[in-house]
Amino acid sequence: MTRPPLRLGVNIDHVATLRNARGSAYPDPVRAALMAQEAGADGITAHLREDRRHIVDLDIERLMAAITLPLNFEMAATREMQTIALRHRPHAVCLVPEKREERTTEGGLDVAGDAERLADFIAPLREAGSRVSLFIGHDPHQIDASARIGAAVVELHTGHYCDLIAQGRPDAAAQELEALRMGATRAQAAGLEVHAGHGLSFDTVAPFAAMDALRELNIGHFLVSEAVFMGLGPAIAKMRRVMDDARR
Ligand code: PXP
Repeated sequence: MTRPPLRLGVNIDHVATLRNARGSAYPDPVRAALMAQEAGADGITAHLREDRRHIVDLDIERLMAAITLPLNFEMAATREMQTIALRHRPHAVCLVPEKREERTTEGGLDVAGDAERLADFIAPLREAGSRVSLFIGHDPHQIDASARIGAAVVELHTGHYCDLIAQGRPDAAAQELEALRMGATRAQAAGLEVHAGHGLSFDTVAPFAAMDALRELNIGHFLVSEAVFMGLGPAIAKMRRVMDDARR
């Protein structure tokens, strides 16, 4: 049986991290997005954080104008970000929890505990035509709540699995993978489109690429890191190949 296609969303945040490290105009995340498009990406993801530590407002404007691929706009569920998203109307809006002091998005959203507010928050985004995605862990309560409040998509957080692999804990990683697999199946059965991402690399992507229920993987930090050694286009093309081989 052939599996449904799996999209690769390339997250370009850390091209902007490198640019901002020197306050220069390069490397340009828009150039990276255009290169990702050439190399076989199916979408571009960019996270406008409250502190603008990597992507800045002008990057979002320039991306919207320059790319033909769908933009997945990652943001916290704040009024400021909602206003920006409603102005740009990107293809997708992915809501993530955000803490100022964290290095990266550490956990998933508490959709079950914040259901009423999030339902109100996503309604205008949906009306504006953006697909709303919620970044969550594999907890069944979070999955069910995401479906209940009207999200179109959930993105499952793969970061913990990748950390366990890096720590050399294969048994715990296998358990986490199984929980993610069950979560993906549950979300699909609830009518949600299922994506996954965070921390994925050539070494950790295969089991996710092989999951029938998944439709999209979003990958950033590893690809930008690998670009230092092999170039961004080749890194993305190789990721595409690893995903396609695993899905076959
Ligand atoms: N998906 C979501 C929702 C994220 O917040 C991030 C990190 O910004 C990613 C995917 C990509 O993670 P990484 O940069 O570790 O590949």
